[in-house]
Amino acid sequence: MSNNDLWVRDVLASYGIIALIILCIAIWIIQKWSTVRKDTYKSYLLGFEMECAELSSPYKEHLFKALRYIVSNDQVLRSMGSIRILEIGVKTGENIQFYPEGTHLIGVDWNTKLGEYLVKGNRSWQFSHIIIERLIIGDGSSMKKVLTGCVDVVVTTRSLCSVKSVQSTLQEIRRVLTPGGKYIFVEHVPEKESTFVRWLQIVLTQTGIWPSLFGDCRLDINCVTDIKNAGFKKISWTFLDLDGYVSHPLYLTLSRQHVFGIATR
Ligand SMILES: C[S@@+](CC[C@H](N)C(=O)[O-])C[C@H]1O[C@@H](n2cnc3c(N)ncnc32)[C@H](O)[C@@H]1O
Repeated sequence: MSNNDLWVRDVLASYGIIALIILCIAIWIIQKWSTVRKDTYKSYLLGFEMECAELSSPYKEHLFKALRYIVSNDQVLRSMGSIRILEIGVKTGENIQFYPEGTHLIGVDWNTKLGEYLVKGNRSWQFSHIIIERLIIGDGSSMKKVLTGCVDVVVTTRSLCSVKSVQSTLQEIRRVLTPGGKYIFVEHVPEKESTFVRWLQIVLTQTGIWPSLFGDCRLDINCVTDIKNAGFKKISWTFLDLDGYVSHPLYLTLSRQHVFGIATR
């Protein structure tokens, strides 16, 4: 064997080892990826999202005051002075504190742990002022189990960004709402065009990195146009930047700007 042949053999052997190492790392990452995703999303929901709910609490308190003036379209509920609320993306019930005494709640969330949190969890005592009528595990864009026109109020807070289709979800919201019923929303919206954060929101969303780590959340969708086009009779809204201490400031930077509003069916 010539010196040249030996050199080629050595190079092939070294590259073979490098390729094998890369292959092993790739297999390891693929195997671990679903665990990494699950753990990241869980700590996001129970960490940052809780902090965010806390930051938005004073503004929500103000927004949810509108619930006090709603009279149910359901004769039985009306006679009891109660209303029926359907919340999409109810998670661990962060908004329930704002619901009036005796509210009948239909919770929709695709998180299969929903019942454990809301009914059997340590915090379920905090929800004793309302009646959990139904918990539906599923996607907000297809709520076939909910009758047309049976709900007085629909609520979404930081949830429209993850539904399969914002337009279909808004159509479903209109369908389940009683005439005159209210849709109350608090959703994050993208930053102003031509800013670095806006660019980051687009890149992280369109590469699939953010949605795959954070439960399909899209940072680049602006639901305001969709809400305006959904056929509601009246809509009022305001934009608001959330500010304050959170354990992951980057997450807040990427979803700081919010729209708070109420639409009437
Ligand atoms: C970011 S959390 C917000 C939770 C709560 N609304 C709040 O403001 O604290 C989003 C919630 O929406 C739920 N979710 C995400 N996509 C959904 C979908 N397509 N249909 C129903 N729920 C969904 C998630 O499981 C999660 O509980």
